[in-house]
Amino acid sequence: MPGKSISIGEAERESPRLEMIPPASPEYSVIMSYVELIAELPWNKTSEDRAKDYATVLNMARDKVDFATVNVSSPNTEKLRDLQGLDALRALLENVMDIRGDTPVFLKIAPDLQDTEIAGIVQLAEEMDIAAIIATNTTLDRAGLRSKHKDEKGGLSGQPLFEKSTRVLARFARETSLPLIGVGGVGSAEQAYTKIKAGASLVQFYTALAYEGLSLVPRMARGLETLAKADGFATVSAAVGIDKNDPRWS
Ligand SMILES: Cc1cc2nc3c(=O)[nH]c(=O)nc-3n(C[C@H](O)[C@H](O)[C@H](O)COP(=O)(O)O)c2cc1C
Repeated sequence: MPGKSISIGEAERESPRLEMIPPASPEYSVIMSYVELIAELPWNKTSEDRAKDYATVLNMARDKVDFATVNVSSPNTEKLRDLQGLDALRALLENVMDIRGDTPVFLKIAPDLQDTEIAGIVQLAEEMDIAAIIATNTTLDRAGLRSKHKDEKGGLSGQPLFEKSTRVLARFARETSLPLIGVGGVGSAEQAYTKIKAGASLVQFYTALAYEGLSLVPRMARGLETLAKADGFATVSAAVGIDKNDPRWS
């Protein structure tokens, strides 16, 4: 997706989190010069007026960022996911869209949604002019895990989330032509390509980046190009959604 270009210095000043990335590799400057700033609109556990929290962050950030994300899907903040209920989500999005100015707004959803919930969210997102849907956040599901840590509290990310989040991504792709951002368990170019074929126009990875570092990004980009070419596509974007009806994701 196109975003305004900013210098490394600007990116670091605007986002304290970016300062934590060490300029250890030659890829650092390449990556940082393409950084797009996204403000995430959350609330805190201790918040007294949750809708106001979203509005406060958006008001502060909207002139400085390329996009804003409404996160209603983190399992780590008590009751946050209740906002995926249609009435609550409508009220929240109306509030956010009223004050967003020209900032495109993304909606980030959970991987634990039922089909009927997905249909309602799609309808509302289209009506509200949401620019893209991010599928998905972490999961509370522990099915299939054998680790002794499996009963730990909180959202689960990484490999165990891959199939589940890709299934939800493909379901959204079948329901809407809104751009989709695929996230959940991506750790290789093959997995990024699978997300793209399931319907993602953009792929995000978080856990794999923590384990493997920034060099994963150029490896992923090169791998994607090779995979798309092997399938006979001139560009990676030509593969977006070609597998959204694959029975694997039904
Ligand atoms: C330590 C950690 C912190 C996260 N913080 C946020 C957050 O603040 N907001 C959010 O929307 N998602 C957050 N996520 C979810 C990730 O953005 C991503 O949706 C999820 O981890 C699945 O992708 P992955 O398997 O590549 O990690 C966090 C995930 C992890 C592991």
